[in-house]
Amino acid sequence: MAKSLIAFFSRAGENYFGGQFRFVDIGNTKIAAEKLQALTGADLFEIQMETPYSDNYKECVKEAKRHFDENARPGLVSFPDSIDEYEQIFLGYPNYCGTIPMPVFTFLEHFDFTGKKILPFCTNEGSGMARSVGDIRKLCPTADVKDGLSLKGSTVDSCDEDLKNWLSL
Ligand SMILES: Cc1cc2nc3c(=O)[nH]c(=O)nc-3n(C[C@H](O)[C@H](O)[C@H](O)COP(=O)(O)O)c2cc1C
Repeated sequence: MAKSLIAFFSRAGENYFGGQFRFVDIGNTKIAAEKLQALTGADLFEIQMETPYSDNYKECVKEAKRHFDENARPGLVSFPDSIDEYEQIFLGYPNYCGTIPMPVFTFLEHFDFTGKKILPFCTNEGSGMARSVGDIRKLCPTADVKDGLSLKGSTVDSCDEDLKNWLSL
């Protein structure tokens, strides 16, 4: 397989699972990203905010919505030194407000993805990929951005077959 990077954003803390709130130590997208890493052997990079969104779900929704409304580019803790060596990038994120979280905008604007394949995977509670893939294509117009994989966040523990099927495409 081509040399690959899995870059993902995910949030631990309080989240909404099929009708109830639950506090988790590992976010849904991180669970999917680690499964993908085990299947592919790709390098793994977590996109982390300098000022993380709140552990409290309702606060987090407020903060993320404000960033979305302001078209903000929140600062990140770090970036990979380079993405030159990677032919393909798996990009993992939760659906926030119908698209990628704003810290993922920050990440994508940092690099030139010309000639690279981007494979999005998005955890969500029912909205699917929504506008996320279109927004990634706008941010990375010279990359080959695939349609990607939607995963239900609250059942991500059992997404292994979905990932395997996706990888065999
Ligand atoms: C701020 C915020 C906005 C969200 N917006 C949506 C949405 O528009 N559509 C949807 O299906 N799920 C939405 N969700 C649910 C998340 O996409 C879902 O729980 C996801 O699996 C969380 O991933 P994580 O645990 O890796 O952070 C939202 C969650 C949060 C916290």
